[in-house]
Amino acid sequence: MLTSEELVAAGLREAVVEVCVAAHELEEFRLLFTYVPSGARHFLAFDGGTLVSHAVVTTRGVQPQGLPILRTAFVDAVATLPSHQNGGYASATMRRLAEEIGDFEIGCLQTDREAFYEHLGWEPWRGPLGGRSDDGIIPTPDQRGVMVLRLPTTPPVDLDAMLTIECQPGRIWE
Ligand SMILES: CC(C)(COP(=O)(O)OP(=O)(O)OC[C@H]1O[C@@H](n2cnc3c(N)ncnc32)[C@H](O)[C@@H]1OP(=O)(O)O)[C@@H](O)C(=O)NCCC(=O)NCCS
Repeated sequence: MLTSEELVAAGLREAVVEVCVAAHELEEFRLLFTYVPSGARHFLAFDGGTLVSHAVVTTRGVQPQGLPILRTAFVDAVATLPSHQNGGYASATMRRLAEEIGDFEIGCLQTDREAFYEHLGWEPWRGPLGGRSDDGIIPTPDQRGVMVLRLPTTPPVDLDAMLTIECQPGRIWE
């Protein structure tokens, strides 16, 4: 695991961007580091000296209805180089990530590959979803693929309750 600062100092920033762009076929990932706050935790897998898989954790705050806002490890930019997919790299990266977010109260991510994460212990959120803004809750009824990972300090959560997350500039869940 490397923080964003350590990753940049290690000269790995471009390699991370290239893995994300190639895996997602999305040039927008060239801006990844303009969105990743300092202190974010990057999880990496290598084949020899080549970076082949990546995931990043930033701190957000999901709130299941009836519970306080939980210190949330939000996972983004999960990606494996196309040439190395289906070789277990992302599974290994995500297992390592799960071991190293024990200081958070819950894990959360949004994906269109739910089955992949379910094999790793993540659970789809079934209840209604929304964003918390200064003006109240913004419902996100069309949102799909929000999943959570229970951690040692996660309180009992009802997956059918409403789940909200703080709105970020230009972003709620995705
Ligand atoms: C989704 C993604 C990150 C998975 O990365 P990966 O390194 O291929 O993942 P793994 O190899 O660990 O697992 C992929 C599949 O191969 C299987 N697998 C893992 N190791 C294997 C092995 N040694 N032999 C055969 N199959 C294996 C896994 O069980 C998994 O199957 P599942 O999807 O049915 O659960 C990758 O496909 C990717 O970058 N996709 C494009 C971007 C994307 O969709 N990102 C995720 C969005 S949140």
